[in-house]
Amino acid sequence: MKVDGRHYRPIWEEGGEVRIIDQTKLPFAFETCALRSEAEAVRAISEMLVRGAPLIGATAAYGMALSMREDPSDANLAAAHARLFASRPTAVNLRWAIDDVAARLRPLPPAARADAAFARAREIADEDVELCRMIGVHGLPLIEAVATRKGRVNVLTHCNAGWLATCDWGTATSPIYQAHDKGIEVHVWVDETRPRNQGAFLTAWELGKHGVPHTVIVDNAGGHLMQRGHVDLCFVGTDRTTRTGDVCNKIGTYLKALAAKDNGVPFYVCLPSPTIDWTVRDGVASIPIEERRPEEVTEIPGLTAQGPAQVRVAAPGSPAANPAFDVTPARLVSGLVTERGIAAATEAGLLGLFPERAAA
Ligand code: MRU
Repeated sequence: MKVDGRHYRPIWEEGGEVRIIDQTKLPFAFETCALRSEAEAVRAISEMLVRGAPLIGATAAYGMALSMREDPSDANLAAAHARLFASRPTAVNLRWAIDDVAARLRPLPPAARADAAFARAREIADEDVELCRMIGVHGLPLIEAVATRKGRVNVLTHCNAGWLATCDWGTATSPIYQAHDKGIEVHVWVDETRPRNQGAFLTAWELGKHGVPHTVIVDNAGGHLMQRGHVDLCFVGTDRTTRTGDVCNKIGTYLKALAAKDNGVPFYVCLPSPTIDWTVRDGVASIPIEERRPEEVTEIPGLTAQGPAQVRVAAPGSPAANPAFDVTPARLVSGLVTERGIAAATEAGLLGLFPERAAA
C-alpha cells in the first residue's frame, strides 16, 4: 500500500539489505531501518519493530537467511531456528516459516544455504501478498451485501490486521481496502487496542494514508456501538487458528466476539492458511499466550508539545498483568475468510477448503 504516494511493503530488500518499517515509531514518525544480522531480526520481532503474524513469519524467514550468511553450518542452522522460534510465542506463522526454510536448507551444502534461504524468504513475502489479496477478494462480497442493503457499511476491527501486519493488503483490512477502492462507502471503527495501541497507532495511520474513513474508539466502546446498530460487520485477524476454528488474536478480541454474538453482528476472522495450526484442536487449552512486560500497561507512549514521550497511566507501585492474546471459541465466529474462500469455523469447514490437511 502507499505512504505519501510511494508504494511500501513492511519488509523488503534494497541494495543488498533487508529493510523494515520500524513500527514502534508510528504514527508519530515514519522510519525505516536495516536488519543486518539474525540478532537484529530476533530483536525486531521480540521488541515489535515488526509485528502481526504474517509479517513475523516473513521476518523470521529473513532472519534464517541472515543467519546463514553469518554461519551456514548444520549447528547454526539448528541454533538459528531455536533462537528465532523463541522470539515470540503465539503467532504460528513464525514456526511455519522457519520450519519451511530449515527443511529446504538441511539437504543443501552449507555454501548454498544463504542464497537459498534469501530466495525462499523472498517467496514467502511474495506469497503472503497474494494470500492477503485473495482474502480481500473473498471478503469483499460480505461488504458488498451490506452496501446493497443500506449504503454505508460500518466495520469494526481490533488491533492491526492491516498491511503493516502482513507483507501487503493486510488480512482484516484487505476486503475493506478493496471495497473502498471499488467506491463502496465503507467506514471503520478502529479499536485503540490497549496496551500497545496497534489500532490507534497503526490501523488508524494506514487507513488514513489510504483515505479510508475511520474513527478510533476506546476498546470498551464496541459493545455499545453494536447495541445501537452502528456496526454492520466485525473483521479481525488472528495469530493462530486451530483446526477446529478457535481463534487466537490480540487481547480483547474475545470480548468483541461476545458482544457481536449478543447483538447479532456477523464476526469474521480473516487469515492466510499459514496462520492455521493444524496440530492444535483446543485453542483455549493449547495455544501459548505471550505475557509481555507490565510496563506496557502502566505506561503509554504519546506525542507531547516537546516530542515523543512515555507517561505513566497507573497508580505508582501497582502491579500489572499483560497477557497479549486471547482465544475466541469457534462458536462465536461467523466465518473464516481465507485465500481459498470463507469456511465455517469448524474442522469440517476448514477441511472443506484445505482437504490436503485431512490426514494431519
Ligand atoms: O502483538 P501483535 O501486534 O503482533 O498482534 C497482532 C494481532 O493480534 C493481529 O490482529 C493479528 O496478528 C493478525 S495480523 C494479520
